[in-house]
Amino acid sequence: MARDGTGATGGLPPYFNIDPDAALADLDPPTDTAGFAAIAGACARGRADLAGRGLDETGRKQLRLFSTWEITRYLIPVASAHFRRVLKQNPDLPQGRSETEGGAKWFTLDEVLRLRAFFGAQGSKAKNYLPYRPEGLAAKLVAVANFKGGVGKTSTAAHLAMSAALDGYRVLVIDLDSQGSMTSIFGGRVEDEWQTAFPLLARHYGEHLRAENQRRMDRGETPTPLDEALVAALSMSARDVIQTTHWPNIDLIGAQLNLYWAEFQIPVWRMASRGWKLWDALSDRLAADGVLADYDLVFIDTPPALGYLTINGLAASDILLVPLGASFLEFDSTGRFFDMLHSTFQSIEEGENAAARALGRPGMAFEWDAVRAVVTRYDSAQQGELGALMQAYLGRTLSPHRQDFTALIGQAGEQVSGIYEADYRDFNRETYARGRETFDATYAAFKRLLLGIWRRAERAQEESRAERAQEKASAERAQAEDGAGRPRAGGAGQGRGPGGEGNERAFQDV
Ligand SMILES: Nc1ncnc2c1ncn2[C@@H]1O[C@H](COP(=O)(O)OP(=O)(O)OP(=O)(O)O)[C@@H](O)[C@H]1O
Ligand SMILES: [Mg+2]
Repeated sequence: MARDGTGATGGLPPYFNIDPDAALADLDPPTDTAGFAAIAGACARGRADLAGRGLDETGRKQLRLFSTWEITRYLIPVASAHFRRVLKQNPDLPQGRSETEGGAKWFTLDEVLRLRAFFGAQGSKAKNYLPYRPEGLAAKLVAVANFKGGVGKTSTAAHLAMSAALDGYRVLVIDLDSQGSMTSIFGGRVEDEWQTAFPLLARHYGEHLRAENQRRMDRGETPTPLDEALVAALSMSARDVIQTTHWPNIDLIGAQLNLYWAEFQIPVWRMASRGWKLWDALSDRLAADGVLADYDLVFIDTPPALGYLTINGLAASDILLVPLGASFLEFDSTGRFFDMLHSTFQSIEEGENAAARALGRPGMAFEWDAVRAVVTRYDSAQQGELGALMQAYLGRTLSPHRQDFTALIGQAGEQVSGIYEADYRDFNRETYARGRETFDATYAAFKRLLLGIWRRAERAQEESRAERAQEKASAERAQAEDGAGRPRAGGAGQGRGPGGEGNERAFQDV
């Protein structure tokens, strides 16, 4: 039968007149279990081929260099003549290298960060060359989640991590998805689950069990034995599973297939000890191991499921970003995701608070500094109406910036992941600028949120400090007056004076 170029026969749609015998001739034998291994093997070989391109001689990913054009346009926005002049006047600063005699100068990101520090210290105060992070406040944790697959979670998290790093923040990326896409993007090497977040969760459970055993022994009961894995985990810290990446200021806790094991292990632990607060495991361990002081931002990429790992990531986070495409199915599914978030966290709260009430202890409630849905892969020509509808219904929950679909994402091999790793010379300058603009704007919207949140926390810190100072001063005054044998004022400052409830709390805080 004659076929035209589209595969249709004689002007009929392509699914008409398929000859069963011809179809049979095309067919392979049935697939058995071993067939999956063969397919996986083919994928692994192809992946290795792709991954091998553009690696350095040690087989690790390498970050490209940054040109004077890019630096003065995107990273240290000054006139390029001024930039060159400052470099010339300061021979100790990185001078860059050029590929051709007199050609453009290129710098490593480390060098760019040093230059930025210099401009931050010497340059115009009107531009914030150095990114804002209030002193004394912990890193902010950002989870990117949606149980719908392929909505842009990993791309969004990776791009935000990279833009924050280019902006000068110290970033930790945690991959909680056993697919390990984020780990690939950052060139992570993960042999098994012991190099993932798993041991941190295991340690949290191990410590809980140990404390519980102590109480058991105090009551004269037999303790529950800790298995080998838990004992091993007890000596591990976040620093044991954090690896450096080809980005000087991005570190990684990677993932690989075995991390999925946690989804089976966590409920078993919880069954064995109902008092274990599994949702606190990641945040408690990150805090205990000093991660919140070592980094400015922690981005957590989660799998497309609301499993135990995702719950841990969400409970640990201060900011929750929920990417979704402007399509009916993604909007619909995201609505259900929020419904699941509500019922999951509500049932944890109810369970905990019932137990707390029984013991006469205060209850608990989860809280996020901000929750934002983010439109990804947006095509304004096709999706304008749906985008507007989503905006109308979601209001401020939907981030005002829609991240455009760009062909620059996902087409390059493993060595280049996303727009910030791509060399602009490989693209038409305008395509590059447009693609970059949309991710810069995604970051700008995120950064606005972050700075607002940090500022809020900073103000609260300042206020409570001022309040404590005031209370201390008035307590001292009252003491001095007491000492002088004068009677204490009855009416003024009630509730704040010595013995007042607020005061007790304030003194405890100090
Ligand atoms: N702005 C964008 N423009 C074009 N393609 C994009 C954009 N963002 C993401 N993609 C592509 O969409 C696909 C899915 O993205 P991504 O892997 O980030 O989604 P995900 O939600 O993490 O998926 P999963 O649920 O499997 O973890 C990828 O092929 C990615 O390259
Ligand atoms: Mg992903």
